[in-house]
Amino acid sequence: MKAENLKTIVVIGAGAMGRQIAMNTALNGRGQGYRVILCDTYNAALETSEKWVIGYLDSRVEKGRLTRAEANLTSSNLILSEDVQWAAAQADFIIEAVVEDLEVKRRLFETISKLCRPDTILSTNSSNIVSSKLADVTTNPDRLLNVHYFNPALVMNLVELVKGPHTSDEAVETARQFAINTGKTPIVINKEIAGFIANRINAAVVHEALSLLEQGIASAADIDIACEKGLNYPMGPFRLMDLTGIDVNYLVRVDRYAESGDPFDAPNPLVIEKYRKGEFGKKTGKGWYDYSDGRK
Ligand SMILES: NC(=O)c1ccc[n+]([C@@H]2O[C@H](COP(=O)([O-])OP(=O)(O)OC[C@H]3O[C@@H](n4cnc5c(N)ncnc54)[C@H](O)[C@@H]3O)[C@@H](O)[C@H]2O)c1
Repeated sequence: MKAENLKTIVVIGAGAMGRQIAMNTALNGRGQGYRVILCDTYNAALETSEKWVIGYLDSRVEKGRLTRAEANLTSSNLILSEDVQWAAAQADFIIEAVVEDLEVKRRLFETISKLCRPDTILSTNSSNIVSSKLADVTTNPDRLLNVHYFNPALVMNLVELVKGPHTSDEAVETARQFAINTGKTPIVINKEIAGFIANRINAAVVHEALSLLEQGIASAADIDIACEKGLNYPMGPFRLMDLTGIDVNYLVRVDRYAESGDPFDAPNPLVIEKYRKGEFGKKTGKGWYDYSDGRK
């Protein structure tokens, strides 16, 4: 499937990521005439998404970023459906954004790859599951790859395209053009690797920051200031961990270490301590910083 022939884009999974990817495609791809179907097997997720779509477009119009006509066009091009199988049969390009569970994803790719056309591009937005873990259950896996957006997908510009050993150059090129057509900046990752690129680089920064703190070289706040004022990071690694969740850092590291056995991947002792105390960051009121007095 060539990029110029794409018309119907199906996003499966209307969670935090899926709904933003669908909106980004409908909004920024409206010049391409894309029709977007956002589907989910859980009706409550679709109801939440429907309210969110209306609220998001209204707020863009109120802020003067979109005309009412553009908002109406975007909304009429964005269809919500509970019928994943019907949607798959219409699709030229599928972006899967369901729960991060390998078995769920394998069952889904097995089903949808038989329902869609043989040249429909099939992609997963997974941060951790590379597409080769789905290739054996997918018919024509040459059109299968990771298309990895960042959270929040409407704001974050980067899309990582990860080529598996089964992925054709044509599928990568179509995904690359699709990302550009929807306002994103794609990069191509030529070989599958855990964490892809941006998250791996971030992990290395976090690893070093934690090691400096552990050695008593400087406080978490001063290490953050070094990154923010010396390196122009929008947010230092400790502040970012408090936002994304120290529990998430811990669980990702536990999984990665179990898979690789590489000590670099193991959770840092300071993170283990925070995890055991339930100090996960902003969501619990305390992490590397204290938010109990309502401070941001
Ligand atoms: N949240 C992030 O920061 C982030 C960033 C990049 C990539 N990702 C990836 O995006 C994917 C989705 O993450 P999320 O945070 O949006 O998850 P989420 O839990 O918010 O949403 C998942 C949605 O999938 C639906 N679902 C589950 N099984 C389904 C099925 N068989 N068919 C259709 N819908 C189904 C659920 O009802 C739910 O609405 C994951 O693979 C994750 O690795 C997440």
